[in-house]
Amino acid sequence: MYSLALLTKSCLHTSARILKKAPQNMKGKRASDQRWIARQLNDPFVKAAHDQNYRCRSAFKLIEIDDKYKILKPGYSVIDCGAAPGAWSQVAVQRVNSAGANSEVPIGFVVGVDLLRLTPLDGAHFLSFSDVTDQSIQTQLQELLPSAQADVILSDMAPNASGFRELDHERLVTICLSVADLVERVLRPGGSLICKYWDGALAHHVQSRLASTFCEVRTVKPKSCRKESAEVYFLARFFKKNPKQIHF
Ligand SMILES: C[S@@+](CC[C@H](N)C(=O)[O-])C[C@H]1O[C@@H](n2cnc3c(N)ncnc32)[C@H](O)[C@@H]1O
Repeated sequence: MYSLALLTKSCLHTSARILKKAPQNMKGKRASDQRWIARQLNDPFVKAAHDQNYRCRSAFKLIEIDDKYKILKPGYSVIDCGAAPGAWSQVAVQRVNSAGANSEVPIGFVVGVDLLRLTPLDGAHFLSFSDVTDQSIQTQLQELLPSAQADVILSDMAPNASGFRELDHERLVTICLSVADLVERVLRPGGSLICKYWDGALAHHVQSRLASTFCEVRTVKPKSCRKESAEVYFLARFFKKNPKQIHF
């Protein structure tokens, strides 16, 4: 494990050199593709993810949140919703010790689920081509969990962007409410949730649903989120005991 502050510092140091790099072979590419390539080339978190073998830069968002709030602990069971390509699962595997890398602490459990194909990862159990909003997938997740309960639920899910900000916001709110259903089914009392949303008019629906089942709900925007993005996370902690929970 390492500190995000040190990492960010070293990324920025490295980026000072790569910033001078101009994208090559851009002829024939659309302007939006050219902007994306230039942004990737100049992004210190993209470089750091590559250097540290994370599947994508989003790893640093979870690292930053977890370094501050200590959500993931050795021995914990974690559900990672919208796990592809798998960077959050990589972080979760390291922190809950689900690959058994550290023999001195308890071994945890990580299950990741995505609509897309997930490339296998040591220490994680993956459900590819699976929709978290589907009740039968939620049942499958619960059956996979040791003692049918999760200590932590992560959701970095996002629908494919339509280009219409309000529509995308509304679709993500619907997804977040499904995550709230999953929480009420499988999260253990005292457990935590990290759930991405895009800021907008309907976000308060998710916030009030979470506030009714958690003792504490706050919003966090890690430094590694792109500044221009509407992306924010709900961090909900201390799940209240739910009498409706079904146990197998
Ligand atoms: C931003 S990516 C997640 C990145 C991931 N946290 C990582 O670190 O590799 C969002 C993912 O959410 C998935 N997704 C969106 N809606 C979903 C749903 N209903 N069920 C499962 N996955 C979903 C998408 O397929 C996409 O792979």
